[in-house]
Amino acid sequence: MAKKNTTYYCTACGYESSGWLGKCPSCGGWNTFEEKINIPKAKSGSGAGVGQGWLGDLLDEDSAKEESLLTLDNVHGEAASYFSSGINEFDRVLGGGFVPGSLVLVGGDPGIGKSTLLLQASAHAKTTGPILYICGEESPQQVKLRSDRLQIKDSGIKLSTEVVFEKLAVIISKLKPRLVVADSIQTLYSDQTGSAPGTPNQIRDVAAGFLRLAKKLGTTIILVGHVTKTGNLAGPRILEHMVDTVLYFEGDKYSSLRLVRAVKNRFGPTNEVALFEMGERGLMPVENPSEALLESMPQQVPGSALSVIVEGTRPLVIEIQALLNTTSYPSPLRMAQGLDRNRVSMLMALLEKQTNMTLTNMDTFINVVSGLQADDPATDLALLAAITSSYKNLPVRAKTLFCGEVGLTGEIRPVSRLSDRLKEASNLNFEYIFLPGSAKREVQKLDLASGLEVIFVDQVQEALDICF
Ligand code: TYD
Ligand code: MG
Repeated sequence: MAKKNTTYYCTACGYESSGWLGKCPSCGGWNTFEEKINIPKAKSGSGAGVGQGWLGDLLDEDSAKEESLLTLDNVHGEAASYFSSGINEFDRVLGGGFVPGSLVLVGGDPGIGKSTLLLQASAHAKTTGPILYICGEESPQQVKLRSDRLQIKDSGIKLSTEVVFEKLAVIISKLKPRLVVADSIQTLYSDQTGSAPGTPNQIRDVAAGFLRLAKKLGTTIILVGHVTKTGNLAGPRILEHMVDTVLYFEGDKYSSLRLVRAVKNRFGPTNEVALFEMGERGLMPVENPSEALLESMPQQVPGSALSVIVEGTRPLVIEIQALLNTTSYPSPLRMAQGLDRNRVSMLMALLEKQTNMTLTNMDTFINVVSGLQADDPATDLALLAAITSSYKNLPVRAKTLFCGEVGLTGEIRPVSRLSDRLKEASNLNFEYIFLPGSAKREVQKLDLASGLEVIFVDQVQEALDICF
């Protein structure tokens, strides 16, 4: 009897194994293995010759002839010709606009504004060709209601409710649109893939199909993906590798500020961000984000400290809040939102060692206001100030910013993009800014506004002594 040619693979990370496994040795996921039936390849020609080993078949292939290869110097291509999405903030995060033939993944929590932004972009995109919006999630009536709300008129957007990829491929090949929005990838499925819609296997196959379409037709295709509770898109690792650009929505669903971050971009800078405000008429670009963030900020309360971070090309003032309370559990709670939890633990350990504060019996809650994710290490000093402020129940000085990375020995380390940060601080009329001592020479070279006093500190203890 012929042996069935099957392998098993992890639906979360793609790891393959010859037998079924309960736990994936690569990503540690449980119960993620599915069977994959391998279609045997047609044998070509003579087969492996003696001494050629497994290369035998390949060496006979016609496709390996030299004429089938290109020489880099002879490849003629125009520089990426972008077309605008009609929304400046969105163009910036895309690296200049949509690149024809590119595949873009837009991820985020449900209800954060993905469909809203993409409908706006479809309506305002500066392109003459047709635009196709695949509404896999909502009915055309729902999309129409949203477009009315966004006051979109005469956009000419084509809608499709088809969810089978093979049929969509035919529609797209005939229509030859310039822009396709697939909202969402989780609702589409391929007839040729055995599993149910939304499974990582399906998502991978459908995305691969879109990738081929995008490259073949030169169409920009945007895939919308929901993020699972753990913060990952379903099947994320597979998708992130396949697409050209990955954009993630950040922000708190219940506040109006939304941040779109480019975590991968083959055509532009990564880590660029766009800031929007969700309003009556959809997502509006925020001209002055720091001011918007500062507006709701409480004045002079314990447990709050401000820092200025650099997101992409723009500086941004953020508020870090800390709440410390004596625990009633055997091991205290440590929660951090918007900052890396391990970094918070490390800085608390350092604080405990370098000062006389006892933090081991304290429940600690840390939050970056507005739901932003602040990965900039320059926030370290502000975090320590917020924790100390909550612990001592004393507010930090008014109109003060903290900027400095903290090392394991308590030294304050240099931060990048100093002039951008200082410019933002003086634009917003801050009076004091704590900076690393090593930045002194650079600051002296800058022409600083007179209202801003720079306080240079070399050690955590020194900064806290000045502050409290
Ligand atoms: P939506 O774009 O449907 O989110 P997603 O596609 O990411 O799931 O956004 C839905 C939310 O946005 C919903 O809570 C209503 C709100 N919203 C506005 O506040 N103003 C508007 O003009 C629109 C269209 C939506
Ligand atoms: Mg949606």
